[in-house]
Amino acid sequence: MTVGFNFLEQPELPAPQVTEAQAEHLLSTHYGLTGRAESLGSQQDKNFLVFDSDDRPLGVLKIANPAFTAAELAAQDTAAELIADKEPTLRVAVPMPNLAGEKCTAVTGLLDGTAHVRLLRYLPGGTLVEAGHLSPEVVAGMGDLAGRVSHALAGFRHRGLDRALQWDLRVGHDVVEALVSHVEDPSHRDRLTAAAADGWARIAPLADQLPRQAVHLDLTDANVVVTRPEDAAARPDGVIDFGDLSDTWAVAELAITLSSVLGHPGTTPTSILPGIKAFHAIRPLTAAEADALWPLLVLRTAVLIVSGAQQAALDPDNAYVTAQSEDEWRMFEQATSVPIDVMTEVIRAELGLATTPAVVSGGSLIAGLDPASVTTLDLSPTSDVFDSAFQPGAWLLPDVEGELARAAVRDGASFVVTRFGEPRLTRSPALSQDSPDVIPTGISLWPAQHVTVTAPWPGVVDRLGDGLVLRGDEYELTVTGADAAVTAGHVDVGGVLATAAAGRWFEVGIGAAGAPPAPAFTTAELAPGWLALARDPGPLLGRTASEPATSRDLLARRDDSFAKVQEHYYRDPPQIERGWRHFLMSTSGRVYLDMVNNVAVLGHAHPRVADTAARQLRRLNTNSRFNYEAVVEFCERLTATLPDPLDTVFLVNSGSEASDLALRLAMAATGRRDVVAVREAYHGWTYATDAVSTSTADNPNALTTRPEWVHAVESPNSFRGKYRGTDVSRYADDAVRQIDELVAAGRAPAAFICEAVYGNAGGMALPDGYLRQVYAAVRAGGGLAVADEVQVGYGRLGEWFWGFHQQNVVPDIVSVAKSTGNGYPLGAVITSRAVADAFGSQGYFFSSTGGSPLSCAIGLTVLDVLRDEDLQGNAARVGGHLKSRLLALRDKHPIIGTVHGMGLYLGVEMIRDQETLAPATVETAAICDRMLELGVVIQPTGDHLNILKTKPPLCIDVDGADFYVDALDRVLTEGW
Ligand SMILES: Cc1ncc(COP(=O)(O)O)c(C=O)c1O
Repeated sequence: MTVGFNFLEQPELPAPQVTEAQAEHLLSTHYGLTGRAESLGSQQDKNFLVFDSDDRPLGVLKIANPAFTAAELAAQDTAAELIADKEPTLRVAVPMPNLAGEKCTAVTGLLDGTAHVRLLRYLPGGTLVEAGHLSPEVVAGMGDLAGRVSHALAGFRHRGLDRALQWDLRVGHDVVEALVSHVEDPSHRDRLTAAAADGWARIAPLADQLPRQAVHLDLTDANVVVTRPEDAAARPDGVIDFGDLSDTWAVAELAITLSSVLGHPGTTPTSILPGIKAFHAIRPLTAAEADALWPLLVLRTAVLIVSGAQQAALDPDNAYVTAQSEDEWRMFEQATSVPIDVMTEVIRAELGLATTPAVVSGGSLIAGLDPASVTTLDLSPTSDVFDSAFQPGAWLLPDVEGELARAAVRDGASFVVTRFGEPRLTRSPALSQDSPDVIPTGISLWPAQHVTVTAPWPGVVDRLGDGLVLRGDEYELTVTGADAAVTAGHVDVGGVLATAAAGRWFEVGIGAAGAPPAPAFTTAELAPGWLALARDPGPLLGRTASEPATSRDLLARRDDSFAKVQEHYYRDPPQIERGWRHFLMSTSGRVYLDMVNNVAVLGHAHPRVADTAARQLRRLNTNSRFNYEAVVEFCERLTATLPDPLDTVFLVNSGSEASDLALRLAMAATGRRDVVAVREAYHGWTYATDAVSTSTADNPNALTTRPEWVHAVESPNSFRGKYRGTDVSRYADDAVRQIDELVAAGRAPAAFICEAVYGNAGGMALPDGYLRQVYAAVRAGGGLAVADEVQVGYGRLGEWFWGFHQQNVVPDIVSVAKSTGNGYPLGAVITSRAVADAFGSQGYFFSSTGGSPLSCAIGLTVLDVLRDEDLQGNAARVGGHLKSRLLALRDKHPIIGTVHGMGLYLGVEMIRDQETLAPATVETAAICDRMLELGVVIQPTGDHLNILKTKPPLCIDVDGADFYVDALDRVLTEGW
């Protein structure tokens, strides 16, 4: 017998009716406070947000539903204080004392009977209800919070915990049965009843093994409050509303918390995994709890819907109740979108509790098959079939799998099979926001000759769509795409099931008996679930079963051997092992749109570059001290792109080397060593280029640690810098003044170095006339003008091949790299004959691989492809389209401050405030993470890391550009 409230005895529980005026009266009478009370939505109690005389939120006045006893309320208040005490990093809505020093005020005359009133601490920051999409970090934060609450409440005992609320999932199945009649739509009723029964069938046998304790039981997005630091992501750290506190299964805490995640846009069942992991790290789940978790979550979503339907019937004017129902239905649909057993296996795998599935044994699947005749066709992203056997990148051509099987047969194979559980690139669409179904739950078979499929074990056959299923005692075998030879009924081992024609694929899958029927392909996220329930059919063909992947985490290995200061993109990066045009492919079979790799100017894995490299490596690769044509031809072709007097070339390997050499050329030619550079710039990692790199994003101490020969002028940033609008011309005036002062002080600079278009600031054009004025000043003092074209040159700007054309100037020295080799290390410095000759006073210049036959051959091919594929023209066309679409997005989403740039060097600058232009740095990082989930690789740049540096390979098309903008629109709409 329960002491407190019993839902089953009193299922109807409308919220008490109390007005704001009454609440204000309670405040002044019992708490001595004159403040404003604002009614809040609630399902069962009556709550008011209370403001002090300065209209600052002070607390929440809570009038408990009279159905609850004083003991229950005392338990809740004690639990809140216990958590606040044991978990000091959490903020908790503890009760504040009334004038008599009591935490709970008993009031008569307000409701029928005694009303229990409490004033709870107000926690600023807001809840997660309106947060839109929840990032994996926030979901982990919710799991962590639930773990801490669970841990703090573990030993808590109180008579007021003994109650039977409808939220207690021990009675969840009864609640659904009792209330489902309130749901209007009969098909919804059926689905709810079935899901609750399905969940309960899994929970009931585990019930005795599930530990019990005091559980908050409503730690959902609505009751978790977040701290929102300026410089870090929102962190769930506050707990409110202890009204459902009960003694029940401890694991219900987590199930309820995570169920609320599924109501948010863009979440899928596996979005909850970071929350489970975080909870488990604080309060480890037992195997029984791990197995009960998803069924409890399913049950919870059904309980919410039936309870909401009942409440709406009781209290039709309660807007809070009706507003909930859409999100709740989404939660239910998500929770039931994957079979319970599959999600349970996914959870087990996440917690390291998965067991290795047994290997199947039985008779041969194919009559008379010689195992030695079977060849495995690797269709994974790392397979070399995609680089050599046929047109690279053609992973999506129609019938590409058949094409590859025929190629294998031409190479001597007689029976081709694919690998169980291996991601198939051939199933991965190029532009998809969803994780693709790329993991096969069975194998595909391609016989060169007609074959007979036989039963590996006795069983009963059923027809199934275009295939059949053989149900044995332990396993079920599914054959699709072959010609069934039996209609139905018992088949003995070795009996004929089907025949398969030569030169055609057919599919075989094996599942544990009674397991849900598997789709032929699943996502990387759900694969651990489906594969745990399936079996590799390989052993029935005489092959060894594939081993589950156990390799050590690549990032951990990387950290062991690769200096950490060489950072990687993303906290949890996909493993990228292939690229094609403007796409990158991960080992789990996802194809990403690459919006960031400006180095691969022609696109990834360009076949002409690959062919050139292979040909030249087979023929000759030496150094420029030898006499060969490629170096001459490449230098001629480079200088042909440049105006006079830029006619003399040095060849190196990187942008850093190129800009470093440019500075040294200037020093040698002028006999000076001072250099003027702009702020917010990056020029490389070598001693000299690092010295002139002033970007605080690359080096937070950049401005205070420059050597004395480096003189930084104001960043000519026309968006957020010192001068804006019509004042931007003053940047040049200031820089000229600084240069004149240096000259007057006897420190006339050797060079002024600047990106011709401000790449590091997001592709921003310099103010009109900036370079003309500054170049003139530095030259008047006897110095040289260096244009760093490493990022912006080589056609990317669309209208101009070189960035300096945009400013209508000609520099004395140009440094370029990145694009020059399409990713092959090749950099160049181009200057006048006079400047180049002056360098001779410093001895020889020699770079072992700079200007090698190989780099020159590649450099020539890159120039050929740029011309033949009109990639500069493409940059102008697609870049123009992209910029106008991004500008339209700016009008829709105020976080977009502006869109910088031209051609295919664009920067989408994110701000928090239109007036102050406060950079949205934290937001930009989170947006980039969410864009990755939607299939787009994009990264921040700029001193505040608040600009999406949009600089894809120049081969990107309008579809790719649109995909990027659509994904960004979705992220900015749904949240991140
Ligand atoms: C403008 C600019 N200059 C020079 C460099 C250095 O080039 P690399 O990384 O090839 O040494 C970079 C690299 O990002 C750059 O952006």
